[in-house]
Amino acid sequence: MKVEFYKHALAEEDVENVGKTLRSLFLTTGPVCAEVERRFAEYTGLAHCVALNSCTAALHLGLLALGIGDGDEVITTPMTFIATATAIAHTGATPVLADIEAATGLIDPKAVERAITPKTKAILPVHLYGVMADMRALHSIADTHGLHLLEDAAHCIEAERDGIHPGRLSRGACYSFYATKNLTCGEGGALGTCDEEMAHRVRLLRQHGMSKEAANRYHGNYVHWDMLELGWKYNLSDINASLLLSQIERLDAQLALRQHAYDQYVEMLAGIPQITIPSVVGKAAHHLFTIQVPAEDRDNLLHHLGNNAVGTAVNYRAIHTLSWLKKTYNHRPEDFPNALRFGRRTLSLPFYPGIKTEEIEYVSDTLRSYWAN
Ligand SMILES: Cc1ncc(COP(=O)(O)O)c(C=O)c1O
Repeated sequence: MKVEFYKHALAEEDVENVGKTLRSLFLTTGPVCAEVERRFAEYTGLAHCVALNSCTAALHLGLLALGIGDGDEVITTPMTFIATATAIAHTGATPVLADIEAATGLIDPKAVERAITPKTKAILPVHLYGVMADMRALHSIADTHGLHLLEDAAHCIEAERDGIHPGRLSRGACYSFYATKNLTCGEGGALGTCDEEMAHRVRLLRQHGMSKEAANRYHGNYVHWDMLELGWKYNLSDINASLLLSQIERLDAQLALRQHAYDQYVEMLAGIPQITIPSVVGKAAHHLFTIQVPAEDRDNLLHHLGNNAVGTAVNYRAIHTLSWLKKTYNHRPEDFPNALRFGRRTLSLPFYPGIKTEEIEYVSDTLRSYWAN
């Protein structure tokens, strides 16, 4: 048996929607993007959604829209994908790391409080694997210290914690529609926000700071446009957006399938004493299924699973141990001991809506056989 690490769940209607766009007038940001923005805002319950070509772009423009730049500090977590930190660096600000909670892998609000300095401008939590960080605690810290709050919700469209969803207690939530995400168009992203001014700024910055985007320039006779700001080229095409239209309607059904796969894994791995599973708080979006194994076994297990045709990944080695971040910000591995340990022990298993019971069984048996030998 071969078990892929990830298989997308695109349906025939998604492919048909792309065909419709290819046969239409508009290929770039136009009516389909506008419809995706409307449907996604409705699903997330946020007033505005701005479609972008990645979550990295959403993080970058979200921070810029908050006025963050040279000399500022933004607090984030070492247990994330590098884009969270590089988006901060690209604004000219410094990513300052705060350690995680050992059980969940999520940023620890107490560590955030300790990391605040007079230069701190914002807190950027990550909803790791689809479990929301403690937004109520972070909101209270941000409020006390006059800081902005922006969320990296790349893993986390559908989750809820303490009665709130991503984007409700912050200036915005940044989503990813990358190839392996819960909602995908290959490459894409969005910023969701309840703040009209924030949405307006990000919309302007996504296309060179131009006063009119292509779809608006098209209607009627030609009207001159102006360049109002120095912006970027981060807009999403209508071709990509077409893939999202019907998927948004299927988000809850796909989550139910992943929840079932998650429950099956938990049950089948329960008898293996070397394995623990990160704690879930609230309703999780379940983007990845990760386990924690003894650090000395992790890399051997990656090979053992690979040799038995099971796809794996590591999400993530703590980012303060990666060469560029380590050297640029003078990090030592032991600066964030919980993240260091979590990152050395984490292992991601095959996980997606269509994964079969016998595949989960095979992965679990293959793991068990590693310690049996
Ligand atoms: C936590 C996290 N943040 C940000 C990103 C960046 O997303 P994108 O590839 O859409 O730029 C990713 C992508 O994997 C991610 O996992």
